[in-house]
Amino acid sequence: MKTKPYYKYSDFTLYHGNSLDILAEIPENSVDMIFADPPYLLSNGGFTCHAGQMVSVNKGQWDVSNGLEKDFKFNLSWIEACKRVLKPGGTIWISGTYHSIYQCGFALQVKFIKIFEHVIKFQHNFSYTV
Ligand SMILES: C[S@@+](CC[C@H](N)C(=O)[O-])C[C@H]1O[C@@H](n2cnc3c(N)ncnc32)[C@H](O)[C@@H]1O
Repeated sequence: MKTKPYYKYSDFTLYHGNSLDILAEIPENSVDMIFADPPYLLSNGGFTCHAGQMVSVNKGQWDVSNGLEKDFKFNLSWIEACKRVLKPGGTIWISGTYHSIYQCGFALQVKFIKIFEHVIKFQHNFSYTV
């Protein structure tokens, strides 16, 4: 790997950087399982109700949507990069919210990756946009 490890312990190595660059350095068909937690793309000025308070949903610049087409292009590109490194029969888990997860699901279908399970966390919040 050209990228220097950010942290190393025993046979565990952590890299910090653009996932697309790091994935490009990993040999194809070499990974058993990927867990990805990509941007939710929900930080677009909305509000939610948390513990009885009206609070902003904005998480940071990294979570701002760049519009449907650019967001999908991004999701498609990293999912394609993951597919290249996954072994045949390998698994990818992706976490997201309704802002992002359906795009990821469609990107998986475009790349002919079979979707087997959909795990849903029910969060009892009331959200609204003003
Ligand atoms: C939903 S958060 C994940 C948070 C993480 N699970 C944690 O507990 O810290 C999405 C993260 O992806 C990062 N990110 C966005 N684009 C990236 C890219 N191309 N490569 C690597 N990380 C990226 C963002 O900076 C953000 O920290």
